[in-house]
Amino acid sequence: METIYEKTATSPVNIAVIKYWGKRDTTLILPTNASLSVTLSQDHLHSKTTIRASPDFEKTRLWLNGVEDVDIEKNKRLQNCFRETRRLRKEYEEKLRKDKGPDKVLPLSEYNLHICSENNFPTAAGLASSASGFACLVYTLSQLYELPISAAELSKIARQGSGSACRSLFGGFVAWEMGSKDDGSDSQAVEIAPRDHWPELEALICIVSDAKKGVSSTEGMQNTVNTSTLLQHRIEHVVPVRMKNMIDAIHERDFQKFAEITMQDSNQFHAVCLDTFPPIFYLNDVSRAIIRMITEYNSTNSEKKLKAAYTFDAGPNAVIYTTSENIPEIINLIAKYFPGNDDVKNYFSDPFQLFVGKTIGEQPLPLGFNDQIIPVFPKGSVKQILHTKVGDGPKVVVGESEGLLNNQGISYS
Ligand code: DP6
Repeated sequence: METIYEKTATSPVNIAVIKYWGKRDTTLILPTNASLSVTLSQDHLHSKTTIRASPDFEKTRLWLNGVEDVDIEKNKRLQNCFRETRRLRKEYEEKLRKDKGPDKVLPLSEYNLHICSENNFPTAAGLASSASGFACLVYTLSQLYELPISAAELSKIARQGSGSACRSLFGGFVAWEMGSKDDGSDSQAVEIAPRDHWPELEALICIVSDAKKGVSSTEGMQNTVNTSTLLQHRIEHVVPVRMKNMIDAIHERDFQKFAEITMQDSNQFHAVCLDTFPPIFYLNDVSRAIIRMITEYNSTNSEKKLKAAYTFDAGPNAVIYTTSENIPEIINLIAKYFPGNDDVKNYFSDPFQLFVGKTIGEQPLPLGFNDQIIPVFPKGSVKQILHTKVGDGPKVVVGESEGLLNNQGISYS
C-alpha cells in the first residue's frame, strides 16, 4: 500500500478584549493597532482540518463544512497562506537534501493538496470562524510539512489569511503586536499567559438572533480607517495605554481591571463603527439589553466590584467574561430575560452540570438586582447560551478515524 501524507489538527476560537479594527496594509494584513484576546476551549468550539498531499492529485481542492470551494484560485488570502508555507517547505527540503542526501527528501512542496475543514459549532451561530479556520489551515500545513518554525512565526502567515487568525495560534491570553515594519516581519502574535494561569476565568456566549447579514469585518474596518476621526484618537492615545494595563491585569489576575478595560474597549470599538461614515451598526436591541443587564448585575456587588464583562465583535452576539462563582447567577439572568425556544437542551446544554435538578431562568435573582431594568424578551431572542473556559492552542489529532478525507482523498460529508 502506498504511504499517505496526511495530517489532521484542530484550532481554537479567540475573542478579543482589546479589538483589532483597521489595517495599514490590506494585502499583508497589518493592523493599525495592537490587540489582545482570550483563547476559548476547543472542547466546545474549534475548527478541524485534514490536509493530504499527493503526487496523484491533479489540483489543490478545498472543502469547507462539506461543500467544495471551487474558487480557491481567486482567493488571494488563501493563496498567500499556501505560497508562504510552500516556500518554507521548499527551503526545508533544500536543507535536508544538503544534510541527508537527495533521495531522503520527500518533495511535498511540489504536490497538490486536498484540504477538508469543519467547525464543531453551527455556522448559523454567526460566530467568527475565519480566525479558527485560517489558524487551523496554517497550523495543519506546518505539521504536514514538518516545518521547523515557532508559533509566533506561523502566526505571521495565519495573519495573511485573516488578521484575528494570528491570535488563534496560541492558547491562553494572546497579544497581536502590531509591528512597524512595512514587510510585516514584526507583526505577530505572542503569548501573554498560558491557559492555566487564570483557571477561574470563564466565558458565556449568547448567540443573538439576527435576520440580516451585517457589514463584514474586512469591509467595515476599511470604511472606518477612511472616514473615522475617532479611530485616529483610539490608535494613538487609547490602545497603547489599554494594552499595557490589560497585560498587567492578566498577569495580576485582576478581574476588576480586566473587566473595566474589556467593556470600555468593546464600547469604543462600536463607537468607532458609529463614527464611520456611513455608520455601521453591529449591536441590536438584544445586545444593548444584555449590556444593561450586565451593568445592573455589576451594581449589585456591595463593594462595587465588577463581576462580569461583556464584549461584542462585528455582530450582535455577546461574549461575557466572568469568574467561576458567578456563572450560575449570570446564566439564570440570561435565561430569565432572554428565554430560549422550547428546545431546552439546544438552548443551554449545561456542559459542566451546574443546573442538575434546577430550572434555569427560575432561580432567585441576585440580591439588589432591579428586575425592571429590561423587559423579558420574546422567546428565541437569544438562541443559545454556550458556556466555556480558557483553552489551549492548536493540536494535532491522531487516529485514522479522525481524518476528514476518505480513501480517495475526498471529503466524507
Ligand atoms: C471585530 O480578523 O475578521 O472580531 O483581517 O479582514 O479578516 P480580517 O478581519 P477579522 O476582524 C476581526 C475583528 C473583530 C475584532 C478582533 O477580533 O480583534
